[in-house]
Amino acid sequence: MKNLKSYISQNKEQLLNELIELLKIPSISADSEYKPAILKTAEAVEKALQNAGCSKVEICETPGNPIVYGEKIIDANLPTILVYGHYDVQPADPIELWDSPPFEPVIKKTEIHPEGAIFGRGSCDDKGQMFMHVKALEYMTKNNNLPCNVKFMIEGEEEVGSTSLGWFVKRNQEKLANDIILISDTGMISNTQPSITTGLRGLSYVEVEVTGPNRDLHSGLYGGAVANPINILTKMIASLHDENNHITIPGFYDKVEELSAKERAEMAKAPFSLEAYKKSLDIKDVYGETGYTTNERNSIRPTLDVNGIWGGYTGEGAKTVIASKAYAKISMRLVPNQDWQEITKLFKSHFESIAPKSVTVKVTEHHGGQGYVTPIDTVAYQAASKAYTETFGVKPIPQRSGGSIPIVALFEDELKSKSILMGFGLDSDAIHSPNEHFGVFNYLKGIETIPLFYKYYTEMNK
Ligand code: BES
Ligand code: MN
Ligand code: MN
Repeated sequence: MKNLKSYISQNKEQLLNELIELLKIPSISADSEYKPAILKTAEAVEKALQNAGCSKVEICETPGNPIVYGEKIIDANLPTILVYGHYDVQPADPIELWDSPPFEPVIKKTEIHPEGAIFGRGSCDDKGQMFMHVKALEYMTKNNNLPCNVKFMIEGEEEVGSTSLGWFVKRNQEKLANDIILISDTGMISNTQPSITTGLRGLSYVEVEVTGPNRDLHSGLYGGAVANPINILTKMIASLHDENNHITIPGFYDKVEELSAKERAEMAKAPFSLEAYKKSLDIKDVYGETGYTTNERNSIRPTLDVNGIWGGYTGEGAKTVIASKAYAKISMRLVPNQDWQEITKLFKSHFESIAPKSVTVKVTEHHGGQGYVTPIDTVAYQAASKAYTETFGVKPIPQRSGGSIPIVALFEDELKSKSILMGFGLDSDAIHSPNEHFGVFNYLKGIETIPLFYKYYTEMNK
């Protein structure tokens, strides 16, 4: 595909401007106030897929946010690639920490992105990465070199657990039939060392509520004589890790897949600088489970983290009070073989069992999902590897990620197909954070690499 590079450089402005327009629509799925923006974004994706040359595009209604489906079937005997992505984004808050408004995208240079990066909510996760696929398809249809069949399924609830997508997939197995699912919703090591994501962690997300006395109390009159739910909750949470930062929930590690020394040695070969890592986060030291490296702690090991904690008086000044209730949101990242529903049950019974009689504890389950590991001895992996090698000039390294895309395991169960995770973001792109951005280099490299995957995947399947 000799003209692919020149096509991209000739159309660079337009490729960027179209993404910028999409990023202006605040499609936040967590907040129902943004429902009109969700619908507007679905329509924008519909239009983009039509322009890209899909022969059929539809907005599929679900009990929640719509799913945009598109396809171009050229020959039933050729392989079919199903592209999955999401058009919803995380909330923008804390909004005051953004250097430019989250839904007014701007391109600025950074140390890591000397060619500039697009700053805006969803630029990397996942509008920018999803849009690379739309533009890659457009290139292939315009130049008559789409080598196989393609289907697109772009959802609007990924950031809130993909409930409607599960519903949709179960009801549309035939429509979604494919040979491989192609996803760009992860990252890579760096712009000079690409990687292919070979693992995602599972997730169990719970909310806990600790109730003490039936009302808020004067902390002088009652303090010391009754259980303070905030004191109790923090003590209970602290007990969930031991001095080695192992999780103390009985049975939590029972099914954890332990990697062999050889696999760990292989992992350790990936380029990584602990000094640069600490510097980028402004921390004097890292922290985590004894016996594991930083890269192991955030990929092959399970974790338990408090995501939010509240209760009592947090306004200005001081108020002497013992609150009646205290709350926390807790997530557990899981690794292969740990079942999220089983882990949720283990958490619940353990958390209830460690509560003193003086309080009552309620554990509510939020969403969750299974982890995923992709094999590397497959045609899809080889094709992806060849595509990256050609566009980056460096062979990509397989790497397990710490993040979660729970729907990937469901795809395998329901559609019986594997996913290939071709991410182009960087960990430093600040997804879910203020000042999220996506490198212009990364965006354009993605558009350049994707058609090569189509080409090699189709050739290797012959
Ligand atoms: N795209 C991310 C997941 C991701 C990011 C995986 C980077 C690997 C590398 C996705 O949008 C996401 O944020 N997933 C959530 C889970 C979901 C159930 C809310 C997550 O990982 O917290
Ligand atoms: Mn995402
Ligand atoms: Mn996300």
